[in-house]
Amino acid sequence: MRLDKFIADMQSETRSAVREYIKRGAVTVNGEVVKKPEYKVNELEDKICLMGKELCFQQFVYYMLHKPADVVTATKDARERTVMDLMREASGKNLFPVGRLDKDTEGLLLVTNDGALSHRLLSPKRHVEKTYYVECEGELSTDAVFRLEQGVDIGDDKLTLPAGVNEIKRLDGTYSLKLSITEGRFHQVKRMIQAVGGNVTYLKRISFGGLKLDETLSTGEWRLLRQEEIEQLMENK
Ligand code: URA
Repeated sequence: MRLDKFIADMQSETRSAVREYIKRGAVTVNGEVVKKPEYKVNELEDKICLMGKELCFQQFVYYMLHKPADVVTATKDARERTVMDLMREASGKNLFPVGRLDKDTEGLLLVTNDGALSHRLLSPKRHVEKTYYVECEGELSTDAVFRLEQGVDIGDDKLTLPAGVNEIKRLDGTYSLKLSITEGRFHQVKRMIQAVGGNVTYLKRISFGGLKLDETLSTGEWRLLRQEEIEQLMENK
């Protein structure tokens, strides 16, 4: 790989900015100053330093974003603010959100450039679990809970797969619950609640594939995943 491309990828800098560093002598390869941007490096073996700091090759990066309402889950949009607009400062090339949350849904969104992991997590065959905290209008009968747990008709050709229903709290015509599902159908949670006579007023994803939302992140904030969190995600085989 060219030296300037390697540094641009690692630092999320433009190639022209990187060429300036290189020409100024700020870059060493295996301890020797290299002033040629086109110099070929072996990113797995060479020790490449920028201003004395080693740049470690990292092919893939993994972030969690606490998605706020009012932004769309897309990399680009002509009219709306996107989740990637919130992450302009994140380093890593070709980042994208894994899966989709509705514009008005908050919570855990994984952002990465690891296409293979994304594919695995979203594959309908793998039944990766997602848990949502849901606030609703309406009454939640014991029968409705049973139906959510068994599978409900949301107007598709098949019932939903059995869901986990936990931590139900009822209060004067409203209720909240935690709902765990293993599919990713369009507006699935809202349609499941509708199918049992309720109406979702607030929706937040709190876990995905074993990864839990870091509640110390305010909406709109993001951070790199820790090593153990990445390993947890990789267990979704
Ligand atoms: N189900 C929904 O209805 N909306 C979401 O954003 C996610 C799951």
